[in-house]
Amino acid sequence: MSSTRPSAGIEAITVHVPEHYLTLDALAAEHGVDPAKFHSGLGCRSMAVPHPTQDTVTMAVAAVRDLIDRYNVDPEEIGLLICGTETGVDSSKPVSSYVHGLAGLGPQCRTFDIKHACYGATAGLMMACSWAHKGRKAIVVASDVSRYQPGSPGEPTQGAGAVAMLVSDRPQVLRIHDSFEAVHTLSVNDFWRPTYSPTAVVDGRYSVACYLSGLRSSWREMCEMTGRCRDDFAYMLYHLPFPRMSWKAHTAIAEVETGIDLASPSSDLEPEKLVYTQKVEPALWAAQEIGNIYTGSLWLGLAALLEGEPTSSAGKLVSLYSYGSGSCSELITGAIGDDPTAWHGRIGLGAALTTRTQIDHDLYLEFRKMELALKQNGSYARSEIPLEKRLPSHASTLYLGVKDHRRVYRPGADWQPGTDQPRVQIREDEPPEAWCDMWMLGQEPPWKVQ
Ligand SMILES: CC(C)(COP(=O)(O)OP(=O)(O)OC[C@H]1O[C@@H](n2cnc3c(N)ncnc32)[C@H](O)[C@@H]1OP(=O)(O)O)[C@@H](O)C(=O)NCCC(=O)NCCS
Repeated sequence: MSSTRPSAGIEAITVHVPEHYLTLDALAAEHGVDPAKFHSGLGCRSMAVPHPTQDTVTMAVAAVRDLIDRYNVDPEEIGLLICGTETGVDSSKPVSSYVHGLAGLGPQCRTFDIKHACYGATAGLMMACSWAHKGRKAIVVASDVSRYQPGSPGEPTQGAGAVAMLVSDRPQVLRIHDSFEAVHTLSVNDFWRPTYSPTAVVDGRYSVACYLSGLRSSWREMCEMTGRCRDDFAYMLYHLPFPRMSWKAHTAIAEVETGIDLASPSSDLEPEKLVYTQKVEPALWAAQEIGNIYTGSLWLGLAALLEGEPTSSAGKLVSLYSYGSGSCSELITGAIGDDPTAWHGRIGLGAALTTRTQIDHDLYLEFRKMELALKQNGSYARSEIPLEKRLPSHASTLYLGVKDHRRVYRPGADWQPGTDQPRVQIREDEPPEAWCDMWMLGQEPPWKVQ
């Protein structure tokens, strides 16, 4: 397949990470598990834990606002906003609607969510690339909180975060080769979240097998359609349900290309370890500290690569494998931009990780309990938010619970430093849903900054 279309892809990228984290040493100690299982077996060191006032919406808003501020994006220029998420906050109103209002985008903008497990944001990105060929700009934001039952095998892989990407026909960060499609779809029950459950149900090992099966098919398709093979790529990025999954993916592709059975005891793995270190490992460091952020996971890897190797990655070819349970997988290839100043110092990933606060296992469980409580109608009440020293110190938007079946969000950056007092005074007689609506309409909100 060939194309004469102009290029499209990612012009700008930002990452938002929750302010709190739990080490996997603490989780291992709690459950009496050898920490080496989490560190070496899964490749994880810590997991991001959202404060109860942070959710899929607030994280997406933070990432989109950072994108607008750090890359001087004119919000009125955005004609399409797509949110990829599998942890939306409503069965009807999309996360993208909240984000559109809270991030201050213009009214001439299509917004919708795409749900397909961890594949949603990739589907959105490919759709936005087609649209960007018209010369217009889109934002694709991936935002999720991954949650499993405490004590389950999935728990150590949890994470939370959002990745926002500006998509246009000026792809200074990643020019996507969109003249071919290497997609693989198969209806399976490897991972799902029933509407009655706050946590996912997962057949973990089966999902690993489905992931690898989709990868082999998509890789073969890409090779056939483009004539490229893995030697052509300087970096190979993968969806990371847990970082060690990338080693399984790496050996699966090596087997497809070489025909050697690497699981055989007689196989020499050393050459493959070397290739892995060069092509795969540079994209893993953020996922090791944050955990699985579902739709944003693959794109977090791209952000990590760009931040970690800003100069040496410039101009290089990269392959990116996206997998969404259920299942749909897609293999994308592209070229990183030639000029690192296009993204250097603007992604915000390393900076966010160095300012995080470590929490203990008790507080992690308390956050989970509070998060569930704040989902109920009538949960909005200031007294229910644990102020003390636990407030997110620089969250740009707070989620405060549900009142009259409406979720309540408001600006949150203005807590008095060193105290537990908000600078924002809330007039209790105002219905909170009116605050959100007025704020979105650009009217004076009924709170006062001291
Ligand atoms: C991935 C998942 C299935 C692992 O579950 P588990 O039952 O704890 O897994 P295992 O017992 O197989 O252990 C995981 C790894 O740690 C290794 N391990 C176990 N104990 C260890 C120890 N003490 N030291 C070092 N490694 C150890 C195992 O050998 C295994 O490695 P391998 O897969 O290379 O063989 C589970 O985390 C899960 O369900 N995750 C969510 C779904 C998911 O991530 N799906 C992926 C596709 S989207």
